Amino acid sequence: MADKKTANLMIGDAEVGLPILTPTAGPDVVDIRKLYGQVGVFTYDPGFTSTASCDSTITYIDGDEGELWYRGYPIEQLAEKSHYLEVCYLLLYGELPDAEQLTDFENRVTSHTMVHEQMHNFFRGFRRDAHPMATMVGVVGAMSAFYHDSTDITDPWQREVASIRLIAKLPTIAAMAYKYSIGQPFVYPQNELDYATNFLHMCFSVPAEKYTVDPALAKAMDRIFTLHADHEQNASTSTVRLAGSSGANPFACIAAGIACLWGPAHGGANQASLEMLRQIGSVENIPEYIARAKDKEDPFRLMGFGHRVYKNFDPRAKVMKESADEVLDLLGVHDNPTLQVAKELEKIAREDDYFVSKKLYPNVDFYSGIILEAMGFPTSMFTPIFALSRTVGWIAQWKEMISDPQIKIGRPRQLYVGADKRDYVDLDNR
Ligand code: SDX
Repeated sequence: MADKKTANLMIGDAEVGLPILTPTAGPDVVDIRKLYGQVGVFTYDPGFTSTASCDSTITYIDGDEGELWYRGYPIEQLAEKSHYLEVCYLLLYGELPDAEQLTDFENRVTSHTMVHEQMHNFFRGFRRDAHPMATMVGVVGAMSAFYHDSTDITDPWQREVASIRLIAKLPTIAAMAYKYSIGQPFVYPQNELDYATNFLHMCFSVPAEKYTVDPALAKAMDRIFTLHADHEQNASTSTVRLAGSSGANPFACIAAGIACLWGPAHGGANQASLEMLRQIGSVENIPEYIARAKDKEDPFRLMGFGHRVYKNFDPRAKVMKESADEVLDLLGVHDNPTLQVAKELEKIAREDDYFVSKKLYPNVDFYSGIILEAMGFPTSMFTPIFALSRTVGWIAQWKEMISDPQIKIGRPRQLYVGADKRDYVDLDNR
């Protein structure tokens, strides 16, 4: 990034020149790394609304134009023409693979899909009614206890093995979390199946009978994985980077990302969005909920709406909406009340001044739940599916950070507004 300009900042009588860095795309960045050293002040930006935490070559979002690129390739093209493991290769290594590279990568992932058999016992320590996200956080964090031969982050080979293991095993772990929650036996991965088909087979087959996954559903599942694969420095990715900056092992970092994703303001919104649509129940009830969403005194928010970056439409939501129509049609689910409420809610919100003025549009979580529910997943499995899809993005971002020679532990400063220095008061004098 060439330093083409300088921002001059006056602090009292002191003037400081801050380099302005120019990205490939997006707004210029004022480099404030030397600010405190030069003039003794911090910057203040809770929630990082105007602050870049790193430079990255992986994903780019233009919130005004509704653009999302993985390594420069628009998400719409990847969703239509690529498939998830090819997108994984692209995110991890920066370029689309040739036929030989793709086959080798798919074989490496496929040969790591099983988990250590002792993990079956580990699962049995959880209550059956535990939320699958709770078991996923626990099990993925525990992977460093099962795969300690790939936890040395200074060894590029171990970093690569850990990355492949995580991409390969997350669907198996997510499916195990689901099976465990419904009291059914775990289903082993079948290596002759592709990634998405394997996941659906592990979730929905039972030992008592043969189960064949509908290729059209597998394609829709694979597209959902692709749409969720990465998304710049969102909350969970920033969590993974911050955990990784301390030198924590990759399994612990991904477990931290899963924990953060679970929040309803983030990846948990797909579960919350479908539950909201069910709560609204019918098109007639929409105005009441729109009014609640606008009411400052009411904590209710339209889940699946709004985004920190997208101030137009979320390109993933557009693809997801098309996919919802296809999947429901394929499954013969017509007049789905939840989809009807979702489409009418989107229509009303797009015409309502409150949502238009605040640039609140459906995000990736608004339609995904409708597809996943139609496929047979309970709402509790929506965020685990988001987590397994995003694992490759977290790993790509973690690898980018770890291999940066200038890596520093992340340690934000603060604006202290607590008590001034004071002396201890004995109990008798309080
Ligand atoms: C994901 O960062 C990523 O990239 C995340 C993600 C990814 O792929 O990693 O895209 C995945 O997390 C998508 C977002 C899923 N979350 C939801 O759908 C939950 C509902 N949405 C909101 O909670 C909210 O929109 C956020 C959290 C998504 C964004 O919050 P911001 O950017 O901090 O915006 P804000 O909360 O400051 O809201 C701005 C204004 C506020 O009104 P004012 O205080 O300015 O008067 O818009 C209002 C908010 O009250 N608002 C909403 C709203 N979202 C924001 N009002 C009603 N319903 C909503 N959904």
